[in-house]
Amino acid sequence: MHKFAGKVAVVTGAGSGIGQALAIELGRAGASLAISDVNTDGLAQTEEQLKAIGAPVKTDRLDVTEREAFQAYADEVNDHFGKVNQIYNNAGLTHIGTLELSDFKDIERVIDVDFWGVVNGTKAFLPHLIASGDGHVVNISSVLGVMALPGQVAYVSAKFAVRGFTEALRQEMAAAGHRVGVTVVHPGGVKTSFGTNAGVAEGMGIDHDEMLENFDQQVAKTTPQQAAQTILAAVGKNKARVLVGADAKSADLLVRAASNSYHEVLFGGPGVLGRVTTFGRRMLARMR
Ligand SMILES: NC(=O)c1ccc[n+]([C@@H]2O[C@H](COP(=O)([O-])OP(=O)(O)OC[C@H]3O[C@@H](n4cnc5c(N)ncnc54)[C@H](O)[C@@H]3O)[C@@H](O)[C@H]2O)c1
Repeated sequence: MHKFAGKVAVVTGAGSGIGQALAIELGRAGASLAISDVNTDGLAQTEEQLKAIGAPVKTDRLDVTEREAFQAYADEVNDHFGKVNQIYNNAGLTHIGTLELSDFKDIERVIDVDFWGVVNGTKAFLPHLIASGDGHVVNISSVLGVMALPGQVAYVSAKFAVRGFTEALRQEMAAAGHRVGVTVVHPGGVKTSFGTNAGVAEGMGIDHDEMLENFDQQVAKTTPQQAAQTILAAVGKNKARVLVGADAKSADLLVRAASNSYHEVLFGGPGVLGRVTTFGRRMLARMR
């Protein structure tokens, strides 16, 4: 745990879910924490748990879309702890909607939080991470940054962008000779408040409660603690990327195996793979 003990770690969106679990696991591993969120009630609970562990913690309300506040916050954290080693750009949300049914404001909100929030955090903290001589940037993308699905067009766009941004940054840090590791994280379904916080575009014909039940029972198979432990194990090894959960690993395999035709495997389609899938589904239905 030398990667974490005695290190200063910043976690955004630390008031809930994966961010909260990351903060607690980092605290248990001996790190000092700078935690932030717009959800101040959840944040207070995280702070309480960190204090119970005995981890030094600085707690602030921070909206990751507010660039100037983020820059000032980076300096404050550095002044407070005397250094900063790691940032976990985790804060995020989604809005369910096809492009046709999504308003510009909803698309912009998702891109602002999920993409610009990551850029703001990385750029604000990068000088401090470089100066620490042992820095690490961890950006939370999604399985939807590996595979596109219909109905979450803004989220897919933001998460693919986080992946590209993070992969490019890793190469830039190496080329410049900076001792800053960079990891992109692609979680599959994780049991958090993510579904509860999701907006739904009008006209999608989706009942929010039904969607939530489906997310909790069918999609979210990994606990936040399992996700956090998987992420920290990968950061400890300075992995370029980490897939969290069997669902994310399967999706990644499918995209590699089927290349641009993966949607045909998932939904059936005009190509050979689509016909095979449709045929397979019919056979399965007959066998039931
Ligand atoms: N839960 C999943 O199935 C899943 C899957 C893939 C990726 N992710 C990603 O994991 C990350 C964490 O999500 P989670 O599942 O823990 O969800 P969550 O809703 O439980 O936690 C997200 C936190 O981010 C905070 N947040 C939202 N907007 C913010 C803003 N503008 N500024 C600061 N904080 C803000 C929320 O208040 C919340 O506390 C997100 O980036 C999400 O896209 C989640």
